[in-house]
Amino acid sequence: MKISITKSEQSRLSQIDFDNIPFGRTFSDHMFVADFKDGQWGDYRIIPFGYMQMHPAMMGLHYGQLIFEGMKATKMQDGTPVFFRPEMHSARLNRSAARMKMAEFPEDVFLEAIHTLVSMEQGWIPPAEGSALYIRPFMFATDEFIGVKPSKTYRFVIFTGPVGPYYPKPVSLLSEQKYTRAAPGGFGEAKAAGNYGGSLLPTELAIAQGYDQILWLDALEYKYVQEAGTMNLMFVIGDTVVTPSTTGTILKGITRDTILKICDYKGIKFEERMITIDEIVEAHMDGQLKECFGTGTAAVVSHVAKIKHGDIIMELPPIEDRKIGPALKDEMNGIRSGRIEDRKGWVVPVKSNQLATV
Ligand SMILES: Cc1ncc(COP(=O)(O)O)c(C=O)c1O
Repeated sequence: MKISITKSEQSRLSQIDFDNIPFGRTFSDHMFVADFKDGQWGDYRIIPFGYMQMHPAMMGLHYGQLIFEGMKATKMQDGTPVFFRPEMHSARLNRSAARMKMAEFPEDVFLEAIHTLVSMEQGWIPPAEGSALYIRPFMFATDEFIGVKPSKTYRFVIFTGPVGPYYPKPVSLLSEQKYTRAAPGGFGEAKAAGNYGGSLLPTELAIAQGYDQILWLDALEYKYVQEAGTMNLMFVIGDTVVTPSTTGTILKGITRDTILKICDYKGIKFEERMITIDEIVEAHMDGQLKECFGTGTAAVVSHVAKIKHGDIIMELPPIEDRKIGPALKDEMNGIRSGRIEDRKGWVVPVKSNQLATV
């Protein structure tokens, strides 16, 4: 496959203050674009980052065929830019595509595209530890047609932008007893835009009550714990990490998978299973709920300080007293930076592309 490259006339890099990067508003110089038509992907190109023309009847704007991924490139201690389990993001994008009846994108092109693009944008990876170049692959339907059916054409784009070190404050969660995020048989497992749009109103209401995020419960009985915001949830009950099993209604987080694999090789007990919110309340009352944390690409591990369920407010043990969440976070960050051995081959150095460096 060939990716054509058109470089931007002037880099905007010198205008960036890496000590003050507004989150999600700074974008690097180039983007990768591909188009699907006549049953195949092609026209692979890296072009200057900028506006895209669109037709008002473009189907992706109307019927929700819009999926995305979120991943990061970081620098190791020795300065090598790396990805973390990039093939998992490609695989998840394609699972989302299949569920939304969109065209799957070839994994080899996905990987070649991120390597080439990030190798061109290496200077955009912020130097400070904990900061990263955020990578946003996404795909949308481009048929110019009004009517509910799968589009025959799609566009796939990857752009990137630097993000500063993320020092997450411990978060508070409110269990939601009216709205739900995803029902069995729905598309909660897809990283589809609609899942996020639907979460905004209930999240605003939770924030108005003084909570950071919603703890979603299952859509049938409001009984089983699902996930929170853009994080999967893990509880430490006694000495065991317990996390909801992925039964189609929650996103299969790549951080979640990584953390469970770390638990496995470190001999930390863990269970993937259905967890009721009542079990969490009971464990808290018995003094057995030692920790709760969310996992996700943004923060790796976000500690949960407080959970409200109905009239019950659970204040969890102070972060300083926690052992498992902080250790898992340190292990994952250590592997990424090269401080800790990468036993599983998760860290993938960005291939330096000759074309990209001319
Ligand atoms: C709804 C939801 N759950 C969980 C996650 C965590 O997934 P990952 O660890 O792959 O970032 C995300 C973020 O992508 C998300 O959007």
